[in-house]
Amino acid sequence: MKLVRLRLRLIEEILDDKALNVKVILLVRDPRGLMQSRRHRHFCELSPDCWEPPLVCADLLSDYLAARHIMQKYPDRLMVIRFEDLTLKPNITTDQILKFLKLDARQAFDKFLKKHTTVEVAGVHSTFKVSRNIPFKWKHVLDFGYVNNLQMSCREAMRLWGYKMAHNETHMMSNEFHPIEDYTI
Ligand SMILES: *[C@@H]1O[C@H](CO)[C@@H](O)[C@H](O)[C@H]1NC(C)=O
Ligand SMILES: *[C@@H]1O[C@H](CO)[C@@H](O)[C@H](O)[C@H]1NC(C)=O
Repeated sequence: MKLVRLRLRLIEEILDDKALNVKVILLVRDPRGLMQSRRHRHFCELSPDCWEPPLVCADLLSDYLAARHIMQKYPDRLMVIRFEDLTLKPNITTDQILKFLKLDARQAFDKFLKKHTTVEVAGVHSTFKVSRNIPFKWKHVLDFGYVNNLQMSCREAMRLWGYKMAHNETHMMSNEFHPIEDYTI
């Protein structure tokens, strides 16, 4: 199942039910990239927790705390992935996912990756995108004033998830600024 914007602390109830034998993968994204991508999504307009920075950041923070708690309780039932790592290192991340799921499906995955990460097809809902162009597009699309505001709301969540601050507009748009660093959970 793929669920969009289901908060992680609700997942604990499902994991507590031993009969279900569920594994969960949480996909996290840099709030700046998230907001850039959501600007074009109409589903977002009606619910403030989808686009209001303080609400988005509070969710990101509570997901981090919940993930840490759940991983201590069920170390082999929850996996956390940053969207940026998935798109920049699809091979390594795919191996980690398959290992976590104990699935031997490398061939099927390779086929899927090849098809879905190298061709561009129109439409924002398509998964057919050139993935290496996606994660940091916000650096060149978002206004620095907006980014600065978002970063203020998200300071703590960004620090925990390993997302680095842009200091000013020049810094934000420069190639030297690589927005992600290692993080631990
Ligand atoms: C990813 O893995 C596939 C096969 O598993 C290989 O053909 C491809 O060269 C790898 N790509 C990178 C960037 O390592
Ligand atoms: C922008 O930020 C960079 C990195 O912190 C700094 O070196 C530079 O002096 C800043 N530029 C301006 C105009 O403030």
